Amino acid sequence: MPDLMVMRPHKLRSYGALEPFNAEPPRQALVSSYVTPTELFYKRNHGPIPVVDDIERYSVSIIGLIDKPKELFMKDILNLPKYNVTATLQCAGNRRTAMSKTRTVKGVGWDVSALGNAIWGGAKLADVLELVGIPKFTSVTPAGGKHVEFVSVDKCKEENGGPYKASIPLIQATNPEADVLLAYEMNGETLNRDHGYPLRVVVPGVIGARSVKWLDTINIDSQVCQGFFMQKDYKMFPPSVDWDNIDWSTRRPQMDFPVQSAICSLEDVNVGRNGKLAIKGYAVSGGGRGIERVDISTDGGKTWKEASRYQNSGTTYIADDEKSDKWAWVLFEAEADVHSNTVIVAKAVDTAANVQPEKVEDIWNLRGILNTSWHRVHVQVRHSSM
Ligand code: MTE
Repeated sequence: MPDLMVMRPHKLRSYGALEPFNAEPPRQALVSSYVTPTELFYKRNHGPIPVVDDIERYSVSIIGLIDKPKELFMKDILNLPKYNVTATLQCAGNRRTAMSKTRTVKGVGWDVSALGNAIWGGAKLADVLELVGIPKFTSVTPAGGKHVEFVSVDKCKEENGGPYKASIPLIQATNPEADVLLAYEMNGETLNRDHGYPLRVVVPGVIGARSVKWLDTINIDSQVCQGFFMQKDYKMFPPSVDWDNIDWSTRRPQMDFPVQSAICSLEDVNVGRNGKLAIKGYAVSGGGRGIERVDISTDGGKTWKEASRYQNSGTTYIADDEKSDKWAWVLFEAEADVHSNTVIVAKAVDTAANVQPEKVEDIWNLRGILNTSWHRVHVQVRHSSM
C-alpha cells in the first residue's frame, strides 16, 4: 500500500484576506466521497458575503422584456415543484497555480480542488419563468428578451461597488432538461451563507461564475449581461494575448467547461514505497457530456491504461446511461506498480471524444482559466532497506 508522507489536515485551505473568502479542500479529502460534504465544498467570492436574514421580506424581482414583471417571495418559490439535481460546480480558475508556472497569470492560485459535487434542491428556473408568462423552450420573448441576467445582493469592487451579475441564454433557462435551478438547498440542508443563502442559481455544466449566489433580481434582456465578470473576466484568450494587447470584446464569455480530470490521491511530490500505488481522482466535462474514459500513465505519458470509473461506489459508471448523473463528476481509480521515480498522468475523454490537451503551454491564457492540461504528479519511490 502507498506510504504517503504528505497529508494535509482535513479542512479547507483559504487564500488571502478573509474578504473575499476563497477556499478549497485538500485533494485527498475531495475524492473521499462522491457527494462533496458542504464543509469541504470550495468557496469562491468576489466581495464580502452578504447577510440576508429577513427571509419574510426577501424577494426576487423578475423584470425586463416581459409582459408581467413580478416580485417572488420565498413562499412562491417553495410552492413550485422541487427538484434535486446532482451537479458539479467548477471554478474556471481551477488548477490555475499549475498554469502560472508556465508564465504569470492573474487570479486566485487554485490547486486541483476548486470544484465540488453537490445535490442541489430547488425550483427549476423554467418553472419560475412560466410565472411571468414565458413558456418552456422560449428563445425570444415577444418584447425581444433573449438572455436571462441574474443580479445578486453582494457588491464587488470589480463592478465599482455594484452587484455581482451574469447571464445565460433564455433558451437554456426555459429548457427544463437543462436543469437550471434556483436552489435553496445543498446536500439536503438549507443553503448556507457561503454558498448563497437564501437562494442561488445553479447552472449545471457551465463554469461556476454563472451560478449567481444571493439572487436579488432576474432581468430578461435583449443582450448578454454587460457586467464585469461576463465581459472583462472569465473569457478564454489565446497564448499570444497579454495585458498590453488584450481586447476583451473579441471573445465570448465562457459558458460550458471543457473536459477535465485530476489525480487527488497523490500530492506532487509524494514518496511512496516501492510497489503498489493507488491512483484516485475526478473527471468531469461541461454541457452534460459524460466521461467516456480516463487514461492513466505511470511512465509520464508513454503508455496508458484505463482507470475504472464510478459515481455511486459499487456501481460501474456508464456515460449517458439514464441511471448516471449527467451533470456530475465521475470518480476514477487505478492501481499502479511503481518501482522507480516517475510521473503519473491522468487524462479524460468525454462523450464527444474531446480529450484534455497534453501541455499547459498550449492553452496558457493571461487570466489562467480552464487549465485542463494532462494532470501530472511526480512520485518518488523509497526503497526500503528492510
Ligand atoms: N455569486 C455572487 N453573487 N458572487 C460571487 O462572487 N462567485 C461565482 C459564483 N457565484 C460569485 C457568485 C464564482 S466565480 C464561482 S466559481 C461560484 O459562485 C462558487 O460557488 P461556491 O462559493 O458556492 O462554491
